[in-house]
Amino acid sequence: MLESRFSQIRLLLEEALPMVSQDDQKVIKNFDDRLQRNFYTKLQKMSAEEFYQFDGLRKSYLLEDNVWMNLIDKMSRLIKFPRRDFYPEDRVERRAYGKKKKQYELNACHELFHGLKPLKVYDFGGGVGNLSHYLNTHFAVSSSVIDANENLIIKGRSKLKTNKGISFIHTVVDEKCDLNLDSNSLGVGLHTCGNFAFDMLKVCSHKKIKHIVNFGCCYSKITNHKYHLSQNSQKKPFLNYRALASATLSFGTVERDQYDFRLKILDYKYSFYHWLYTEHGILKFCPMSNARRSLYSLDFKDFVSITLKRFFPHLKPPAEKSLMSFYKSHPNRQLIKYFTAYYACSRYFGELVEAYLLVDRALYLQQKGYESHIFEVFDPQISPRNKAIVATLNLV
Ligand SMILES: C[S@@+](CC[C@H](N)C(=O)[O-])C[C@H]1O[C@@H](n2cnc3c(N)ncnc32)[C@H](O)[C@@H]1O
Repeated sequence: MLESRFSQIRLLLEEALPMVSQDDQKVIKNFDDRLQRNFYTKLQKMSAEEFYQFDGLRKSYLLEDNVWMNLIDKMSRLIKFPRRDFYPEDRVERRAYGKKKKQYELNACHELFHGLKPLKVYDFGGGVGNLSHYLNTHFAVSSSVIDANENLIIKGRSKLKTNKGISFIHTVVDEKCDLNLDSNSLGVGLHTCGNFAFDMLKVCSHKKIKHIVNFGCCYSKITNHKYHLSQNSQKKPFLNYRALASATLSFGTVERDQYDFRLKILDYKYSFYHWLYTEHGILKFCPMSNARRSLYSLDFKDFVSITLKRFFPHLKPPAEKSLMSFYKSHPNRQLIKYFTAYYACSRYFGELVEAYLLVDRALYLQQKGYESHIFEVFDPQISPRNKAIVATLNLV
């Protein structure tokens, strides 16, 4: 099942790739280099409300275009995985540490862990040990937290010092690491970012760990081609940073005010890049993702002056009148409309990229002798990286 799904995902991904891997700077430099698709043009003609319904409420069918419909139809059959409603039916929350989202995730995994009946757990990237604490409390298993971040280990050790069933191992898990692990155990990675997912799967399968549960996250941090793991991948297609980042988007619906805010961020960021190129000939990516929310509540001119000070302190802030006339100009509005349409569609195709990466990982484990499955475990509205690879070693 996984193999045939994988080859279909791969085929469709090759077709959808330009729609997730655009080089934005090329388009800013020359608008004619944008991706030309009829459905982008149709999207740009939608009313704001209709566009919100399409993008923010995920009503893909509002875009009436045969090419689009065909792609979405093919995709929707490939990105869905069995939904295992592991969250207790009575929704009684069992005692769990961590923030509300973490507590939800731990409760939602309960039945999954119950089904695996682990005797010993290795909690890969377990941080301060919230998952280990949960498993120790509700299943009475001993657990070793393995994490590269020493501060988290110190914090976890002090928080859980009375709990004799939990130990901490401070180490970086990579292809070369040699951990002494008991194979009759469960190796779990609850949100292993970037390369760490593959490194964990590799270590666990090498050590013939009986059960493996892995939730990925932060796919944009994957480097050194640590995707295309299975023999089925044939090492292509190439996924650039943009394509990998699209897999980490949130694919749920959003409230209108949150959605409008998302549009404003896009508008300000791309107008800034566009202005910077037009005025100064500079094309440079500025990592603004951790900018304060309040920055986007400012006027565009204040946004520009603060952003300039941060990334280009040697440049003089522009005069307000000329900046605002650029911001409102036809070429800038046209560019923003295009990017808005492009990213609305890429938010759909990101799900295909995520499915590709996960099925590839599941197949990799299959080829190492595991029976692998992928399940949707969390409600994507609460925890967008909601899919788990669950693998059990076939004992011959
Ligand atoms: C996204 S956090 C998840 C933390 C925790 N599992 C949770 O669900 O709250 C990823 C964790 O993996 C750890 N990590 C990342 N790469 C690692 C590696 N190569 N080896 C060991 N730990 C790593 C980080 O320090 C971090 O604590």
